[in-house]
Amino acid sequence: GKLTQEELKRVAAHRAVEFVEPGMTLGLGTGSTAAHALDRLGDLLRAGALPGVAGVPTSLKTEAHAARAGIPLLPLPGARIALSIDGADEVDPDLNLVKGRGGSLLREKMIEGAGARFVVIVDESKLVPRLGCTGAIPVEVIPFGALHTLGLIRGLFDGLPGFHARLRTVPAAPAKGGEDSDSESEQPFVTDNGNYIVEMFFEDGIRGDLRDISDRLLRITGVVEHGMFLGMATTVIVANKDGTVSVMD
Ligand code: A5P
Repeated sequence: GKLTQEELKRVAAHRAVEFVEPGMTLGLGTGSTAAHALDRLGDLLRAGALPGVAGVPTSLKTEAHAARAGIPLLPLPGARIALSIDGADEVDPDLNLVKGRGGSLLREKMIEGAGARFVVIVDESKLVPRLGCTGAIPVEVIPFGALHTLGLIRGLFDGLPGFHARLRTVPAAPAKGGEDSDSESEQPFVTDNGNYIVEMFFEDGIRGDLRDISDRLLRITGVVEHGMFLGMATTVIVANKDGTVSVMD
């Protein structure tokens, strides 16, 4: 029968773990696809197949998951990362990525940019002609003046048809006592680093020189980092619906 999307994620993850060799320090990704790689690594470590392997987690969630899986963890400073394995929200034909729709991107970019190799694992549905085709491009911003920073980000794309940007929010935690709390109220989503996220939406994806757009975003005071990972992936492993796996590098 046909493989489910979850099974495809697992297929891609297991293929990436084949690149792991004894003694390697790994960048450990975040998200539902990367989670399959953590489970696989845990199984192999427990079986004694990968002595000396340790990981640097790209999020608090991954840190907890990797610890449960029995993967020894290291901090980023001093770690010599041989290989990072992570999912992505989108992959374009040049292997540029959108990441961070799950809320993590800053630690991912720091860790995955520090390693020698970065293997991205996706199912076929993540392949796009242009970044931003299927959803938001996230931008991590400092909470202070976040709506001011949002205005500056909007200003970069002033007049671009179909463009909009907003602060990512989550439903506010229900007040104690419940009933009379305002169920409509939202609060900013907070990242592992205590920051907020601005979501940028482009009709049919973002066009133009992505490096230049990246530079302009990063030059805005108040922007910490964004979810476009340009020229970072060294290999992309794609699990296709028909059960085949394609490797792009
Ligand atoms: C975490 O915020 C992201 O960068 C993930 O790596 C990305 O969202 C992919 O997640 P899934 O594998 O769950 O699609």
